[in-house]
Amino acid sequence: MATPPSDNCIGVFDSGVGGLSVLRAIRWQLPLAPLRYVADSAHAPYGERSADFIRDRAERIAAHLVGQGATVIVVACNTATAVAIDPLRRRWPGLSVVGVEPGVRPAVAASLNRHVGVMATDATLRSERFRALVAREADGCTMHLQACNGLAAAIEQRDLNDPVLLDLVQRHASALREAGADVVALGCTHYTFVSTAIEESLGAGIRIIDTANAIAAQVARVWKAKEGAGAEPRCRLETTGDSRRLAQFAARWLGFDAEIAARPLSL
Ligand code: DGL
Repeated sequence: MATPPSDNCIGVFDSGVGGLSVLRAIRWQLPLAPLRYVADSAHAPYGERSADFIRDRAERIAAHLVGQGATVIVVACNTATAVAIDPLRRRWPGLSVVGVEPGVRPAVAASLNRHVGVMATDATLRSERFRALVAREADGCTMHLQACNGLAAAIEQRDLNDPVLLDLVQRHASALREAGADVVALGCTHYTFVSTAIEESLGAGIRIIDTANAIAAQVARVWKAKEGAGAEPRCRLETTGDSRRLAQFAARWLGFDAEIAARPLSL
Protein backbone atom coordinates (compact mmCIF):
# COMPACT_ATOMS: atom_id res chain seq x y z
CA MET A 1 0.00 0.00 0.00
CA ALA A 2 1.33 3.45 -0.91
CA THR A 3 2.32 5.72 1.96
CA PRO A 4 -0.13 8.63 2.26
CA PRO A 5 1.34 12.06 1.46
CA SER A 6 2.76 13.77 4.50
CA ASP A 7 3.07 17.48 5.18
CA ASN A 8 5.37 19.52 3.05
CA CYS A 9 8.85 18.12 3.03
CA ILE A 10 12.21 18.23 1.34
CA GLY A 11 12.58 15.37 -1.14
CA VAL A 12 16.11 14.20 -1.87
CA PHE A 13 17.23 11.55 -4.36
CA ASP A 14 20.27 9.92 -5.86
CA SER A 15 21.06 6.87 -7.95
CA GLY A 16 21.73 5.12 -4.65
CA VAL A 17 23.28 5.70 -1.26
CA GLY A 18 25.61 8.53 -2.34
CA GLY A 19 23.04 11.26 -1.77
CA LEU A 20 22.89 10.29 1.91
CA SER A 21 26.04 12.44 2.21
CA VAL A 22 23.94 15.42 1.13
CA LEU A 23 20.95 14.35 3.26
CA ARG A 24 23.24 14.20 6.31
CA ALA A 25 24.50 17.72 5.62
CA ILE A 26 20.92 18.96 5.16
CA ARG A 27 19.91 17.49 8.55
CA TRP A 28 22.84 19.26 10.25
CA GLN A 29 21.53 22.57 8.92
CA LEU A 30 17.80 21.88 9.22
CA PRO A 31 17.28 19.68 12.29
CA LEU A 32 13.50 20.13 12.19
CA ALA A 33 12.69 19.81 8.50
CA PRO A 34 10.77 16.72 7.36
CA LEU A 35 12.93 14.82 4.89
CA ARG A 36 12.28 12.09 2.35
CA TYR A 37 14.97 10.27 0.44
CA VAL A 38 14.86 7.92 -2.52
CA ALA A 39 17.85 5.75 -3.41
CA ASP A 40 17.42 4.42 -6.94
CA SER A 41 19.76 1.55 -6.18
CA ALA A 42 18.01 -0.86 -8.56
CA HIS A 43 19.23 1.39 -11.39
CA ALA A 44 22.61 2.49 -10.05
CA PRO A 45 25.08 3.49 -11.22
CA TYR A 46 23.73 6.31 -13.37
CA GLY A 47 27.21 7.37 -14.43
CA GLU A 48 27.50 4.81 -17.16
CA ARG A 49 23.88 5.18 -18.42
CA SER A 50 22.46 7.27 -21.25
CA ALA A 51 21.13 10.78 -20.62
CA ASP A 52 17.61 9.67 -21.66
CA PHE A 53 17.63 6.85 -19.13
CA ILE A 54 18.76 9.16 -16.32
CA ARG A 55 16.15 11.80 -17.23
CA ASP A 56 13.40 9.20 -17.15
CA ARG A 57 14.51 7.93 -13.73
CA ALA A 58 14.81 11.48 -12.35
CA GLU A 59 11.29 12.37 -13.53
CA ARG A 60 9.74 9.24 -12.03
CA ILE A 61 11.44 9.76 -8.69
CA ALA A 62 10.67 13.48 -8.55
CA ALA A 63 6.99 12.72 -9.33
CA HIS A 64 6.96 10.23 -6.45
CA LEU A 65 8.49 12.76 -4.06
CA VAL A 66 6.06 15.48 -5.14
CA GLY A 67 3.25 12.99 -4.47
CA GLN A 68 4.67 12.59 -0.95
CA GLY A 69 4.49 16.34 -0.32
CA ALA A 70 7.92 17.53 -1.43
CA THR A 71 7.97 21.24 -2.21
CA VAL A 72 11.75 21.31 -2.48
CA ILE A 73 13.53 18.63 -4.50
CA VAL A 74 17.24 18.06 -4.05
CA VAL A 75 18.92 16.20 -6.89
CA ALA A 76 21.70 14.81 -4.67
CA CYS A 77 23.49 13.35 -7.65
CA ASN A 78 25.94 15.19 -9.88
CA THR A 79 25.15 12.88 -12.78
CA ALA A 80 21.37 13.40 -12.60
CA THR A 81 21.83 17.14 -12.06
CA ALA A 82 24.05 17.34 -15.13
CA VAL A 83 21.47 15.86 -17.48
CA ALA A 84 18.07 16.08 -15.79
CA ILE A 85 17.75 19.22 -13.68
CA ASP A 86 16.53 21.45 -16.52
CA PRO A 87 13.74 19.05 -17.57
CA LEU A 88 12.70 18.72 -13.89
CA ARG A 89 12.49 22.50 -13.53
CA ARG A 90 10.46 22.76 -16.73
CA ARG A 91 8.04 20.06 -15.63
CA TRP A 92 7.47 21.49 -12.11
CA PRO A 93 7.93 25.25 -12.42
CA GLY A 94 6.40 25.86 -8.98
CA LEU A 95 8.85 23.55 -7.25
CA SER A 96 12.29 24.54 -5.99
CA VAL A 97 14.79 22.12 -7.49
CA VAL A 98 18.31 22.26 -6.05
CA GLY A 99 21.08 20.33 -7.79
CA VAL A 100 24.69 19.45 -7.05
CA GLU A 101 27.73 20.00 -9.23
CA PRO A 102 31.45 19.49 -8.82
CA GLY A 103 33.04 22.34 -6.86
CA VAL A 104 35.11 23.66 -9.75
CA ARG A 105 34.93 27.27 -8.58
CA PRO A 106 36.17 26.62 -4.99
CA ALA A 107 38.78 24.19 -6.31
CA VAL A 108 40.13 26.79 -8.73
CA ALA A 109 40.17 29.37 -5.94
CA ALA A 110 42.12 27.00 -3.68
CA SER A 111 44.70 25.82 -6.22
CA LEU A 112 48.17 27.27 -5.85
CA ASN A 113 49.77 25.56 -8.85
CA ARG A 114 46.75 26.06 -11.19
CA HIS A 115 46.30 22.31 -11.75
CA VAL A 116 42.83 21.23 -10.64
CA GLY A 117 41.50 17.68 -10.60
CA VAL A 118 37.88 16.56 -10.76
CA MET A 119 36.71 13.06 -9.86
CA ALA A 120 33.27 12.34 -11.30
CA THR A 121 31.30 9.89 -13.38
CA ASP A 122 31.79 9.65 -17.09
CA ALA A 123 28.23 10.97 -17.71
CA THR A 124 28.89 14.06 -15.58
CA LEU A 125 32.18 14.84 -17.30
CA ARG A 126 30.64 14.35 -20.75
CA SER A 127 27.62 16.58 -20.05
CA GLU A 128 27.16 20.00 -21.58
CA ARG A 129 26.36 21.39 -18.17
CA PHE A 130 29.74 20.33 -16.78
CA ARG A 131 31.60 21.61 -19.85
CA ALA A 132 29.88 24.97 -19.45
CA LEU A 133 30.85 25.00 -15.76
CA VAL A 134 34.51 24.44 -16.63
CA ALA A 135 34.40 27.05 -19.41
CA ARG A 136 32.94 29.55 -16.91
CA GLU A 137 35.03 28.78 -13.83
CA ALA A 138 38.41 27.28 -14.82
CA ASP A 139 40.00 30.72 -14.99
CA GLY A 140 42.97 29.47 -17.01
CA CYS A 141 43.72 26.50 -14.74
CA THR A 142 44.64 23.19 -16.32
CA MET A 143 41.76 20.83 -15.53
CA HIS A 144 42.45 17.13 -15.00
CA LEU A 145 39.19 15.21 -15.39
CA GLN A 146 39.12 11.71 -13.96
CA ALA A 147 36.14 9.56 -14.96
CA CYS A 148 36.04 7.20 -11.99
CA ASN A 149 34.43 4.25 -13.72
CA GLY A 150 33.34 1.57 -11.29
CA LEU A 151 33.81 3.64 -8.14
CA ALA A 152 30.18 4.62 -7.42
CA ALA A 153 29.08 1.03 -8.10
CA ALA A 154 31.71 -0.30 -5.71
CA ILE A 155 30.60 2.14 -2.97
CA GLU A 156 27.02 1.08 -3.64
CA GLN A 157 27.71 -2.63 -3.32
CA ARG A 158 30.76 -3.20 -1.17
CA ASP A 159 31.99 -2.65 2.32
CA LEU A 160 33.83 0.67 2.37
CA ASN A 161 37.02 -1.09 3.53
CA ASP A 162 36.83 -3.70 0.77
CA PRO A 163 40.25 -4.04 -0.96
CA VAL A 164 38.61 -3.95 -4.43
CA LEU A 165 37.02 -0.59 -3.58
CA LEU A 166 40.22 0.79 -2.04
CA ASP A 167 42.18 -0.31 -5.09
CA LEU A 168 39.80 1.64 -7.35
CA VAL A 169 40.19 4.71 -5.13
CA GLN A 170 43.94 4.32 -5.32
CA ARG A 171 43.94 4.02 -9.12
CA HIS A 172 41.73 7.04 -9.77
CA ALA A 173 43.34 9.25 -7.13
CA SER A 174 46.91 8.43 -8.13
CA ALA A 175 46.17 9.41 -11.75
CA LEU A 176 45.36 12.91 -10.47
CA ARG A 177 48.39 13.01 -8.18
CA GLU A 178 50.64 12.05 -11.10
CA ALA A 179 48.98 14.71 -13.28
CA GLY A 180 50.11 17.29 -10.71
CA ALA A 181 46.76 18.50 -9.33
CA ASP A 182 47.05 20.23 -5.95
CA VAL A 183 43.26 20.43 -5.42
CA VAL A 184 40.66 17.81 -6.34
CA ALA A 185 36.91 18.42 -6.51
CA LEU A 186 34.75 15.43 -5.59
CA GLY A 187 32.11 15.41 -8.31
CA CYS A 188 29.99 12.48 -7.18
CA THR A 189 28.04 12.31 -3.93
CA HIS A 190 29.06 8.68 -3.41
CA TYR A 191 32.72 9.66 -3.13
CA THR A 192 32.20 11.56 0.14
CA PHE A 193 31.94 8.21 1.89
CA VAL A 194 35.48 7.30 0.83
CA SER A 195 36.95 10.80 1.12
CA THR A 196 39.47 9.70 3.76
CA ALA A 197 40.75 6.95 1.46
CA ILE A 198 40.87 9.43 -1.42
CA GLU A 199 42.88 11.89 0.70
CA GLU A 200 45.29 9.14 1.71
CA SER A 201 45.73 8.05 -1.90
CA LEU A 202 46.26 11.60 -3.12
CA GLY A 203 48.90 12.10 -0.45
CA ALA A 204 50.05 15.11 1.51
CA GLY A 205 49.60 18.57 0.05
CA ILE A 206 46.56 17.81 -2.12
CA ARG A 207 43.25 19.19 -0.89
CA ILE A 208 39.85 17.81 -1.70
CA ILE A 209 36.73 19.91 -2.15
CA ASP A 210 33.33 18.47 -1.31
CA THR A 211 30.26 20.65 -1.83
CA ALA A 212 27.78 18.78 0.44
CA ASN A 213 27.74 21.53 3.09
CA ALA A 214 27.41 24.31 0.53
CA ILE A 215 24.48 22.49 -1.11
CA ALA A 216 22.85 21.96 2.28
CA ALA A 217 23.20 25.69 3.04
CA GLN A 218 21.47 26.45 -0.26
CA VAL A 219 18.68 23.96 0.56
CA ALA A 220 18.28 25.59 3.98
CA ARG A 221 17.90 29.04 2.40
CA VAL A 222 15.32 27.78 -0.08
CA TRP A 223 13.38 25.83 2.56
CA LYS A 224 13.27 28.69 5.05
CA ALA A 225 12.16 31.14 2.37
CA LYS A 226 9.42 28.75 1.31
CA GLU A 227 8.13 26.99 4.36
CA GLY A 228 9.62 28.41 7.51
CA ALA A 229 10.36 26.04 10.37
CA GLY A 230 8.34 23.97 12.77
CA ALA A 231 7.14 20.91 10.87
CA GLU A 232 7.55 17.37 12.14
CA PRO A 233 11.22 16.42 11.84
CA ARG A 234 10.77 12.93 10.46
CA CYS A 235 13.00 11.40 7.87
CA ARG A 236 11.89 8.51 5.70
CA LEU A 237 14.15 6.63 3.33
CA GLU A 238 13.04 4.48 0.42
CA THR A 239 14.94 2.48 -2.15
CA THR A 240 14.16 0.75 -5.42
CA GLY A 241 16.82 -1.78 -4.40
CA ASP A 242 17.66 -3.68 -1.25
CA SER A 243 16.09 -2.09 1.85
CA ARG A 244 18.43 -3.98 4.19
CA ARG A 245 21.49 -2.62 2.44
CA LEU A 246 20.05 0.90 2.66
CA ALA A 247 19.25 0.39 6.36
CA GLN A 248 22.79 -0.84 7.09
CA PHE A 249 24.38 2.01 5.19
CA ALA A 250 22.16 4.62 6.84
CA ALA A 251 22.78 3.20 10.33
CA ARG A 252 26.53 3.38 9.74
CA TRP A 253 26.83 6.71 7.93
CA LEU A 254 23.79 8.94 8.41
CA GLY A 255 24.34 9.94 12.03
CA PHE A 256 20.63 10.37 12.87
CA ASP A 257 17.57 8.12 13.06
CA ALA A 258 15.53 7.56 9.96
CA GLU A 259 12.56 5.40 9.14
CA ILE A 260 13.34 2.93 6.35
CA ALA A 261 10.55 1.61 4.13
CA ALA A 262 10.72 -2.16 4.31
CA ARG A 263 9.42 -2.80 0.82
CA PRO A 264 11.37 -1.77 -2.26
CA LEU A 265 9.86 1.15 -4.12
CA SER A 266 8.58 0.25 -7.54
CA LEU A 267 8.82 3.17 -9.96
N1 DGL B 1 26.07 9.83 -6.73
C1 DGL B 1 26.06 10.10 -8.11
C2 DGL B 1 26.71 11.37 -8.52
O1 DGL B 1 26.80 12.26 -7.70
C3 DGL B 1 25.87 9.05 -9.11
C4 DGL B 1 26.87 8.00 -9.26
C5 DGL B 1 26.36 6.99 -10.22
O2 DGL B 1 25.25 6.51 -10.03
O3 DGL B 1 27.08 6.68 -11.18
O4 DGL B 1 27.12 11.52 -9.64
